[in-house]
Amino acid sequence: DGQTVVSPTAEHADILSTLPSIAAGPDLQLRQYQGVWLSAYMVAGMISVQRRFMSRPGDVILASPPKCGTTWLKALAFATMARTTYPPSDADHPLRRLNPHERVPFMENQFSAGQGAKLEALPSPRLLHTHMHYSMLPPSLAGCCKMVYVCREPKDMLVSMWHFFKSAGLNLPFPDLFELACHGQNPYGPIWDHVLGYWAASTARPERVMFLRYEEMLADPVSTVRQLGRFLGVPFTAADEAAGSPVDIAEMCSIDALRSLDANKTGINGSFIKFGHQAFFRKGVVGDWVNHMTPEMARRFDAIVDDKLRGSGLAF
Ligand code: A3P
Repeated sequence: DGQTVVSPTAEHADILSTLPSIAAGPDLQLRQYQGVWLSAYMVAGMISVQRRFMSRPGDVILASPPKCGTTWLKALAFATMARTTYPPSDADHPLRRLNPHERVPFMENQFSAGQGAKLEALPSPRLLHTHMHYSMLPPSLAGCCKMVYVCREPKDMLVSMWHFFKSAGLNLPFPDLFELACHGQNPYGPIWDHVLGYWAASTARPERVMFLRYEEMLADPVSTVRQLGRFLGVPFTAADEAAGSPVDIAEMCSIDALRSLDANKTGINGSFIKFGHQAFFRKGVVGDWVNHMTPEMARRFDAIVDDKLRGSGLAF
């Protein structure tokens, strides 16, 4: 449109320069913003979300720490909400043509890229995603929207994160990432704070914040689809069930179905670090940490996480 876009990183340079900073390996510098360790690029986007994002009635926000099933949740929630327009049996379904990240925008990344206005232009009901901790959400958003949160056993999350960075060529040896995570200093960490914020919100207002675990989704994806339908106010009817809609959605969104699509075999996601679409579909199993952590590392990390979660009613 001919207007000069000031990059959010430049716009918020005064704030960024004051934040504590650590090197997470040679390729990744993290800043601590509102208690959370993030790249400067993401901090800038989050500040913009906090200052500019205008929530609307009917918005649905998906939230997660990275590498906990975001891509899968995006696909399931989109397919569930849009099923009248796009039945899952549709050979030309948008999820068969596009990567789930292209259907459900990543809010702070959009703002970081100077594209926040695109979120304004989306028709309601909007389906959006954030990795922000609950404590960082702008009040308008934390107060009114329905949110679906997904988390995952933290050791598996770390292993998934390490593979993901490696896929993008980042040099972050696993023992280094592990050590950072023990101190809460992994990207988007501390992980326990991320989980506890949404856990408390979902406990206080379960009709507004739905709390999912990756492991439970894997154990019964069709039940997850039904739960999503009920929570989002679009429950599956007897006719939907008879037509096999929840089962079709779960199958269309399975890791094997998604990874076999051209849209997910090619293409790039991300503006700051570039990730190939295929990197979002790796193993999709529970317990892969065992291939990367010694029993001693696992014991140490479990003890830290257990200690941080003690008294919350949440455990992994
Ligand atoms: P692994 O690296 O352990 O395989 P995110 O989408 O938040 O980045 O999370 C990525 C993790 O979810 C990866 O875990 C990936 O394989 C897994 N995943 C992606 N799509 C999935 C799906 N449809 N079903 C189950 N797991 C999926």
